[in-house]
Amino acid sequence: MQLSGTMMINPQGHLEVGGIDTVDLVKDFGTPLWVMDEQGLRQNCRKIKTAFNALGNSLVLYASKTLSTISIYRIIEEEGLGLDVVSGGELYTALKAGFPMEKVYFHGNNKSREEINMAIEAGAGRIVADNFYELQLLNACCAEKGKIQDILLRVTPGVEAHTHEYIKTGQIDSKFGFTVSDGQAMDGVQAALASPFLNLLGLHCHIGSQIFEMESFGHASSIMMDFLGAVKEETGHEFDELDVGGGFGIYYYPGDEPRDPAEWARAIMLVVEAKVKEKGIKMPRIIVEPGRSIAGPAGITLYTAGSSKEVKGIRKYLAVDGGMTDNPRPALYGSKYSIMVANKALADAEEKVSIAGKCCESGDMLIWDAMLPKVEAGDILAVFATGAYNYAMSSNYNRLPRPAMVLVNEGKADLIVKRESYEDLIRNDVLPERLNP
Ligand code: LLP
Repeated sequence: MQLSGTMMINPQGHLEVGGIDTVDLVKDFGTPLWVMDEQGLRQNCRKIKTAFNALGNSLVLYASKTLSTISIYRIIEEEGLGLDVVSGGELYTALKAGFPMEKVYFHGNNKSREEINMAIEAGAGRIVADNFYELQLLNACCAEKGKIQDILLRVTPGVEAHTHEYIKTGQIDSKFGFTVSDGQAMDGVQAALASPFLNLLGLHCHIGSQIFEMESFGHASSIMMDFLGAVKEETGHEFDELDVGGGFGIYYYPGDEPRDPAEWARAIMLVVEAKVKEKGIKMPRIIVEPGRSIAGPAGITLYTAGSSKEVKGIRKYLAVDGGMTDNPRPALYGSKYSIMVANKALADAEEKVSIAGKCCESGDMLIWDAMLPKVEAGDILAVFATGAYNYAMSSNYNRLPRPAMVLVNEGKADLIVKRESYEDLIRNDVLPERLNP
């Protein structure tokens, strides 16, 4: 178990976060409950920002696909970070948060005409073109408006990151980006440079997520810098920015060994500086897009323990009042999480239990074989590092309303996402006349 940010065990033997006893949080807000530790979140932003700023001209964007809410965007802005958005919905949230649009980078591999127009009109700082289709669409939309848009091109460097199949993206066989090795990337650059409406400021890559080997980032940066050199040689064009994506790994479970953000910064910046000298090209501003490493460790999910079932000689199942609807990652990726009985945090571990969700699906298991104190119905279970890709990937499967989210800080808890009601669940249902005689 690794307690991060302001998480601690208080004298009552309860898990506390943001200066509030989780038992009190549950009394006030019910379960399941997503809890975000504001100070933890801010510290994560600062650590990464400081690490990169210390080594040169850089900008940290928060990859908002990780956890996108208006309040979270406000904190990100206060911390001086920019924002990576990937859809009209995330852009809309940023607009509603009053986020400075010049610091918004719009990613995605299939942006619609409506999304592109929305981004141009909103004044998004950069739109990142992923493929030739998008380049043409962008060009057409800008031409229609007579507007010049700053863009980046997403490039596929061909780096195999050691992470789950579904979350690695930099390898050649990927749906994302212009591939360097087959000449597509150079053609993409030429096409962008030929457009009077597109101002090609830089290149972008992202090799995957939950990565612990810093060499992978160095390797990707090196390939990107070689490509920057090749572009200068072939076209004379030099870039202002190089965006090397996110992917910095965090602690979920024993065996995960997160590195210091300073190591991440060094792995990228030292390679870039060396290549600048070697290739005689201008030093680009380095952009990174961490998501998980900002929001992940700052979040916990609180559940109430309910039914249990012992399969003699095999295992004990203990069900909680949430599951794959609020955290699909174990079912989707086989992800592992750490858990604690929040109201018995100092009690000795006594039994091995597997934590099941409440969905009608055998695969709805949150945690296998955790050693916990004796858990009784009504106990509060805390699952750690759920700030990233939980709320963001949640669903209403089985028509379960999504939980509430609270932001805790210095003994105060503020609701930042309301618990869904049954009424919310049917809000978009339409009953045609003929079914309603
Ligand atoms: N930039 C780009 C272009 C990305 O595609 C991503 C994540 C990030 C930045 C942020 O990566 P991070 O720092 O969070 O690793 N749903 C999966 C993760 C998918 C990541 C997709 N892209 C999961 O729950 O593990």
